[in-house]
Amino acid sequence: MKNTYSRIVVFLMTCIVMLSAGTIYAQQLTIDQRVDSVLKLMTLDEKIGQLNQYSGFEEATGPVTEEADKPEQLRKGMIGSMLNVTGAVKTRQAQEMALQSRLKIPLLFGQDVIHGYRTIFPIPLAEAASWDLEAIELSARVAATEASAAGVHWTFAPMVDISRDPRWGRVMEGAGEDPYLGSLVAAARVKGFQGNCLGNTDALMACGKHFAAYGAAVGGRDYNSVDMSLQQLHNVYLKPYKAAVDAGVATMMTSFNDINGIPATAHKYILRKVLRDKWNFQGFVLSDWGSVGEMINHGYSAGEADAAKAALLAGCDMDMESRCYIKNMKSLVLSGAISEDVIDESVRLILRKKFEMGLFDDPFRFCNEEREKQQWDNRAHRDIARNMARKSIVLLKNDKELLPLKENVKTIAMIGPLVKAVGENNGFWSYSWPDDSVRIVTQWQGILNRAGNQANLLYAKGCGITEPDSSGFKEAVEIAMKADVVIMSVGESANMSGEAKSRSNIQLPGVQEELIKAVYATGKPLVIIINAGRPLVFNWTADHAHAILYTWWLGTEAGNAIADVVFGDYNPSGKLPMSFPRSEGQIPVYYSYFNTGRPPKDENDLNYVSAYIDMPNSPRFPFGYGLSYTSFSISEPVLNTTNITAGEELIIKVTVSNTGNADGTETIQLYFRDKVGSLVRPVKQLAGFQQVFLRKGESRTLTFTLTEKDLRFYNENLEFVSEPGEFDVFVGNSPDNLKGKGFVLD
Ligand code: NOJ
Repeated sequence: MKNTYSRIVVFLMTCIVMLSAGTIYAQQLTIDQRVDSVLKLMTLDEKIGQLNQYSGFEEATGPVTEEADKPEQLRKGMIGSMLNVTGAVKTRQAQEMALQSRLKIPLLFGQDVIHGYRTIFPIPLAEAASWDLEAIELSARVAATEASAAGVHWTFAPMVDISRDPRWGRVMEGAGEDPYLGSLVAAARVKGFQGNCLGNTDALMACGKHFAAYGAAVGGRDYNSVDMSLQQLHNVYLKPYKAAVDAGVATMMTSFNDINGIPATAHKYILRKVLRDKWNFQGFVLSDWGSVGEMINHGYSAGEADAAKAALLAGCDMDMESRCYIKNMKSLVLSGAISEDVIDESVRLILRKKFEMGLFDDPFRFCNEEREKQQWDNRAHRDIARNMARKSIVLLKNDKELLPLKENVKTIAMIGPLVKAVGENNGFWSYSWPDDSVRIVTQWQGILNRAGNQANLLYAKGCGITEPDSSGFKEAVEIAMKADVVIMSVGESANMSGEAKSRSNIQLPGVQEELIKAVYATGKPLVIIINAGRPLVFNWTADHAHAILYTWWLGTEAGNAIADVVFGDYNPSGKLPMSFPRSEGQIPVYYSYFNTGRPPKDENDLNYVSAYIDMPNSPRFPFGYGLSYTSFSISEPVLNTTNITAGEELIIKVTVSNTGNADGTETIQLYFRDKVGSLVRPVKQLAGFQQVFLRKGESRTLTFTLTEKDLRFYNENLEFVSEPGEFDVFVGNSPDNLKGKGFVLD
């Protein structure tokens, strides 16, 4: 009897949930009504469960502090989301457990799909070097297509943190130093991941991270404090997050750092006032891994309950892995320290996304093994990755047009620790799959594929990446002596950049530069390929090597993409998204600096000026820099007027000509300078760019537009204003190669 009774109760409960949350009335009810109808049925415990995210049953991407009986908690509805549950089968299994809970609220599965899932694309910093927004969006689209087929609903990307410090290992994950470029890349990535519409089975929810200013960690040391003026925060660092929000990003992740003494995870000003109130962000906010509990270490919270309270009240809706919410939130509500309305507000935002993703209608719609298999080795995706990879390569030097290699090259010596490396090509934040050793095109394989019929290839490793052993130099020199040209592949290992991978010394590791010197001494033409997740310092190599390609980490198709560029099937077009310092002592070095009261007249001026006595202020290679196999001339800019008022347009025209011997793409960049401001303004600010493909001998006139809105900045009172007065506008192909004209904003 009791059994029958409880069955009836379960049946009725299920009907209520289905009626209110499920498909029956789905067409008639708005999502908000459906959310409310579920919320009404939830106990306080179930609500708190929705705010709780655990890492899955496999590899953790952070320090696990405490084990939990996750299956049991799933069945009790104590978990709203999981990360690191990989593949259609495993997501299905975990979802089945969640659906055994009383209200059968489906889980959201999140994952760090940062630069590809199955097909690995270049690291995000490399992609930013393409300055090709369509290609970047497509890369994210492919990643979303592959990951969503494996049951993933949500990627913890894009990372949109501006960083001007290459010691910070996570520069590899962002778009570099500039807020304008960074904002456009952020929007492109959000659109790519989220596709046409959340709820499509090939769309991932995106997550703008790490909010905020994580990239400005003092000393470039990961997780370190950030101390900056609110003006600098708004004028530089917040811009790409805002762009992600404007592009419709579904979620945001808080950062580990404190900002001016308040941990970002409990920072009411940035989370409530800026993100919710000013930017009208409609999605939900997730903490970073353990960042709620870490507020105790910060010395901001007295204990877990205190941390949970501070984070939730500040607007951090979901707790990733610290367990502070699940363990403390109930007593906080029962004691009156937190009102249940605050919990409801966060639960609503999370449920809303679950509805938008269609999970209440079909919790298994993303875990589809058939679809997953189809994405397993997708030729079209590999072609897209190869194209993205070659666009990401930056040609830093090309003396006497050594590159592209000519037909008469009959013997090529390939030397260095990364020539035959396999997994390294994927870079940090990528998945390694069991069959990667056959899927990833190594640099050796790529060159062999392209040149195997025309040239003889020799190989010597020479040395390891970090090891001090130089016993392989002799063999390297011997094969170099036999070759017409030497290609050396050097750099970091993939896990020398990424999370918790800050370096104080960013030179080529180990004895690699010594190896380059030994090979250079043979007098053979020398091409250097530099693989790294950050700008490195390599002055000797930059001075002596004949050609240098900066290839970052290019992913699955690395070898083919490098071969495309080495042999001229693709004319390199990448431009640096970060300035490359001459030494660590110059950091931070960036193009958009303030002039100071004592700017040096030139690089030799040391007369009581703001300069180093032992090296120039300028970087080794500036932001925006990158060579081509052809040359371009860019005319003086021609303006339609010398004065504009608000509402009027300044139209800037320049003619670009391909004056060299190859067809190629150039990125024409537009900068401006606000000459006098109520706050000092940078010497240059990027405000536009266009990529133009020109056949040799071809010219084209490009038109840029600036309006008063482009000239605005956050002033002392944090008002977003422009100020009348004199400006300069500059056009060229890097901040140190520009032609300018003045104009006035009336
Ligand atoms: C910590 C990282 O900072 C964050 O970017 C990542 O998404 C989470 N771990 C989950 O792996």
